[in-house]
Amino acid sequence: CGIVGYIGYNDSKEILLKGLEKLEYRGYDSAGIAVINNDGVQIFKEKGRIADLREAVDPKVEAQTGIGHTRWATHGVPSRTNSHPHQSASERFTLVHNGVIENYDILKREYLQNVEMKSETDTEVIVQLVELFANEGLQVEDAFRKTLTLLHGSYALALIDEQDKETIYVAKNKSPLLVGLGFGFNVVASDAMAMLQVTDKYVELMDKEMVIVKKEEVTIKNLDGEVINREPYTAELDASDIEKGTYPHYMLKEIDEQPAVMRKIIQNYQDENGELEIDSDIVTAMNDADRIYIIAAGTSYHAGLVGKQFIERMAQIPVEVHISSEFGYNMPLLSKKPLFIFISQSGETADSRQVLVQVKEMGHKSLTITNVPGSTLSREADHTMLLYAGPEIAVASTKAYTAQLAVLAILAEVTAKSRAMEVPFNLVQELGIVANAMEVLRDSKEDFEMIAHEYLSTTRNCFFIGRGIDFYVGLEGALKLKEISYIQAEGFAGGELKHGTIALIEEGTPVIALATQKFVNLSIRGNVKEVVARGANPCIISMDGLNMEDDRFVIPEVHELLTPLISVVPVQLISYYAALHRDCDVDKPRNLAKSVTVE
Ligand code: G6P
Repeated sequence: CGIVGYIGYNDSKEILLKGLEKLEYRGYDSAGIAVINNDGVQIFKEKGRIADLREAVDPKVEAQTGIGHTRWATHGVPSRTNSHPHQSASERFTLVHNGVIENYDILKREYLQNVEMKSETDTEVIVQLVELFANEGLQVEDAFRKTLTLLHGSYALALIDEQDKETIYVAKNKSPLLVGLGFGFNVVASDAMAMLQVTDKYVELMDKEMVIVKKEEVTIKNLDGEVINREPYTAELDASDIEKGTYPHYMLKEIDEQPAVMRKIIQNYQDENGELEIDSDIVTAMNDADRIYIIAAGTSYHAGLVGKQFIERMAQIPVEVHISSEFGYNMPLLSKKPLFIFISQSGETADSRQVLVQVKEMGHKSLTITNVPGSTLSREADHTMLLYAGPEIAVASTKAYTAQLAVLAILAEVTAKSRAMEVPFNLVQELGIVANAMEVLRDSKEDFEMIAHEYLSTTRNCFFIGRGIDFYVGLEGALKLKEISYIQAEGFAGGELKHGTIALIEEGTPVIALATQKFVNLSIRGNVKEVVARGANPCIISMDGLNMEDDRFVIPEVHELLTPLISVVPVQLISYYAALHRDCDVDKPRNLAKSVTVE
């Protein structure tokens, strides 16, 4: 979910709506705003997209203070009733909340027995508690603070009081939240992108801090009421980076940006002699580790699987890759000197963050690889490596995945060199070749559109197979396809198919096979024969030099270890066109959110 707030001298509605549009990547099940003026508080909410909310907002209402929310449903179905803002019993207080309050039921039973609740949500409990304590005689600020001290869980909150249109109360724990500073106004947002339209000056908030936001003044306090002074920073985001330009979808724009991202990464990790360079503390941390644990979710997890190959093969440090949501309670026996690497496009994924919190408590070292400087995972880990991919807006991750691979390769290479190990190539040169190859693929869009049309227009399911690192790309291909086209897709290790999954192959079932690895080229082709014998419709994507007669597409040759950077592009584009053919909402697929800030 995402939240915004504005207090100033201008009308707040449009600023809030525009902000929410920029936060839609965090969820778009429902949305709402609350504004306050001399007539009191007015709430507009709607199930669905911000565009639907925009329709529901009364253009005649003018108000200089307001808060807003876009929701990714956790507790309760996506509906108007469950959407934010939520109000207290007397409707004096209005609140938007991102996160999950774990003890909301206990609090309800302990404090709110006599209050008639309007919804089942954890959020309502917060706003009812503020009202309860205010009714008991506390000043609003104290009632808000007292409420915060009772909450267990994650929250980013913005609260308004009908009796005071000059203040927004804000607080944060575990969920991201920033305060943006302007002249004659101040704003609140889950992410700087949302308010870039009005300011690029932001103040970071730490967990268990609250903020009193007024037009001309922002006061940060801890939960003991002590004032905290913190300097603002300038968000180095270019507003044009977050526009679609002439592209029909962000996803296509982001796929096309991949060659440029490769070049930007090379630039940012090169020293003046053209050698790859990373922060020497990171190299030391790598060398001090006896085992590396990569923790990630979704596409970033798939990047981690490839990253393991890079690090093990080049730097020869053992690596384990884990899904973050499982790791917390299913922790393997750790080695004596582990290093944790968190891979996260957004740097905000709550599942990954809970692992970071745990391993920090255990005293272990951590490195975050992320696209978002200043994100929670970046701030809280010992070290950060940035992806330099520019904002990724489409829910389905594309350029962040290839950027993650490039940065992991750089990490592996620099570490290997520091250990005087022989590196199989000149990585700067090889990444240049990768960028060029990506350009060739970018110019072959019609081929992928045709493949999507031919294989995926009407199918119910689709399989991706590969061996070695091709298998990992197959997993990512299947994820891309199911995320945006809703075709049931699975990635399989070529040799594993016959142990069960081959039972699903029917007449015409599409099987996309990746063949970029010389040592398994014949074996994967053997697997293709097995499925063809059972009626499958095969689509072989191979690499130049390994190609054979019936291959459907041949990608340009790159170093064998770096093929995932290239072979993923066809599957991204095939998924994109499959979703288009099936009339799906490419950038905002159903049920998903780009940045999942709840566990
Ligand atoms: C969400 C997104 C995925 C993404 C995953 C991890 O589920 O829909 O596309 O891969 O989160 O996100 P992160 O920002 O941590 O890489």
